[in-house]
Amino acid sequence: MSVVALVPAAGRGVRLGLGMPKALVPVNGESLLLRAVRGLLAAGCVQHVVVAAPPDQVELVAAELAELPAAHVVPGGSERTDSVRLALDVVEQVAPEARVVLVHDAARAFTPASVIQDVVRAVEQGAPAVIPVLPVSDTIKRVDEAGDVVSTVDRAELRAVQTPQGFAIDVLREAYAAAGDIATDDAGLVERIGGKVHTVAGHPNALKITTAFDLAIAESVLAAGAPQSTGELA
Ligand code: CTP
Ligand code: MG
Repeated sequence: MSVVALVPAAGRGVRLGLGMPKALVPVNGESLLLRAVRGLLAAGCVQHVVVAAPPDQVELVAAELAELPAAHVVPGGSERTDSVRLALDVVEQVAPEARVVLVHDAARAFTPASVIQDVVRAVEQGAPAVIPVLPVSDTIKRVDEAGDVVSTVDRAELRAVQTPQGFAIDVLREAYAAAGDIATDDAGLVERIGGKVHTVAGHPNALKITTAFDLAIAESVLAAGAPQSTGELA
């Protein structure tokens, strides 16, 4: 079963604050995007990748990925949802035989192959939508507008969501066709059309590089090939 991965990489990286698209930020000499796309292809279960680039930097992004002929680059949009939609729109031309689609943030450049493989396997085994998740380790409280605590949420039933998120391609197409507004989470669009979303175990190394702190972790730990933590809660 052919698998295509969509990689939204058109964000501006405002929170990272380096004045360049986050996908192009190098970590120990290699961009987050190159690391993310190579990681998808190296997992052994993804045949095609469609990258949504900042619209004014499509050529630069294509050059960045020149060593990976399975990667195609399209202009992204102003919101992540737009970028995913624009990438999804070209799958019919790029990989018409694809039946499974992943959506994977360029910013999660250090996602272990095992997570990618687990997501693909679960979709191939029949789940319409699959997301990697981690337990929440902080105590979570609900607060009101005045900043006073209303209640403590039972964290045992909470999960933090990572990517790649995996879908039967018809399901993602239907979810995007029905989606009118902005969503940060592709699986959330499937939920809105009544689709069932299954979870598999995520991994701490699949963190989204968002802030300078995250980038420092990536440089000092992830890119250095340090032993991987298990993600077990203490
Ligand atoms: N993304 C995208 N198109 C957008 C906005 C975001 O393809 N219009 C992508 C980003 O490139 C990133 C992923 O979606 O790979 C997750 O977004 P985020 O972490 O928010 O990245 P940025 O939007 O670049 O960061 P910031 O919000 O700090 O500007
Ligand atoms: Mg953003």
